[in-house]
Amino acid sequence: MDKRVLLIIGGGIAAYKSLFLIRLLAKRGIATRVILTRGGSEFVTPLSAGSLSGERVFSDLWDLTAESEMGHIELSRSADLVVVAPATADLMAKAAHGIANDLASTTLLATDKRVLFVPAMNVRMWEAPATQRNVQTLKNEGQYILGPDAGEMACGEFGFGRMSEPEAIADAIENLLLGNQSLDAPQPLKGRHALITAGPTREPIDPVRYLSNHSSGKQGYAIVSALRALGADVTLVSGPTALPAPVGVKIVNVETARDMLTACESTLPADIFIGVAAVADWHVKGAGHKKIKKDKHGLPELILAENPDILAIISESKNRPALIIGFAAETDNVIAHAKAKLTKKNCDMIVANDVSGDVMGGDENAMIIVSKSGEQAWPRMTKHKAAKKLALTIATYFEDKA
Ligand code: CTP
Repeated sequence: MDKRVLLIIGGGIAAYKSLFLIRLLAKRGIATRVILTRGGSEFVTPLSAGSLSGERVFSDLWDLTAESEMGHIELSRSADLVVVAPATADLMAKAAHGIANDLASTTLLATDKRVLFVPAMNVRMWEAPATQRNVQTLKNEGQYILGPDAGEMACGEFGFGRMSEPEAIADAIENLLLGNQSLDAPQPLKGRHALITAGPTREPIDPVRYLSNHSSGKQGYAIVSALRALGADVTLVSGPTALPAPVGVKIVNVETARDMLTACESTLPADIFIGVAAVADWHVKGAGHKKIKKDKHGLPELILAENPDILAIISESKNRPALIIGFAAETDNVIAHAKAKLTKKNCDMIVANDVSGDVMGGDENAMIIVSKSGEQAWPRMTKHKAAKKLALTIATYFEDKA
């Protein structure tokens, strides 16, 4: 797992829901490290939180000040996001005023990460002017508050004070981990299924050797996250890369072009297909299970056979996605080649890259978007920025069609 949340479980009956949350996050590929406050440990045990998170649970500041394994400053920065659930009136009051007298409050003061508070308390405590002032202070400082929901509470009263459900908390966490700046960021691609190929393929020569290329997968993975951030359901069919798994998407790992095609075909139907993968054009015919020995037959002869063109096959299939985008890596005549690919592979858009420089494997890209209605050249920018711009272009494409 690659993304990590530091979850502070405060003292409240809703603490049991935080145990469900840990499991839900794990299912979405997000690891959780838990701080259990003294109040929290009245409702759930360190053993249950530790078993679910698969990590040691931290509760006491003085365990850490020995600095034997991890100091409290390091702990507070050891995650991509800090989540306080349930966030009690007391924890939020401390955070709003900079009081640091236990591990949880010290962590909240020391962290350099964004914090998501998920309040749970009695309705009168929630509505109390002091709590509302503290919540406002935290919001003004750029922290996030999710809920509370209205409903019947454990104390028998009715009103706002119930902690949000684990699913909603997990969605909010995913949203923030994807880089969205607000909990209710617009999701124009919600309900759309996007299928993306990314990375290189590896074509075996024998069990230890292969043909491949320099694709890092960075651009494809960035597009996957950008589409997910706009609400799309994303399936990533990835060749071998060294990249962390993107949050909240289904990943199918493959090696060869033929496996990539099979994975894509069995993932259809989809509304969007984007072929970002640098699919090897050829595979070695008859690559066997035995290592080729160099001393036996002189120089080995490799016979190449053409790989299936995944993009062309998907765009001709009876399940053709409504929007198909291909990539064109070119070193010369970029636009002319991209236009030819648009027609030849029956795509709606081609993203052309000039790869004569350091685009492959680098962190930046200059894209030219070629469609039937013309071309648009984007300036050089990071692959993440370019991915966001492409995701917004896709959202607009569907808005215009509607
Ligand atoms: N592609 C694919 N399957 C292949 C080869 C390419 O799906 N076997 C997809 C790539 O993911 C990309 C697009 O086709 O979206 C363009 O690939 P590229 O290698 O640039 O173009 P080719 O069609 O192979 O043409 P050429 O090598 O002549 O540039």
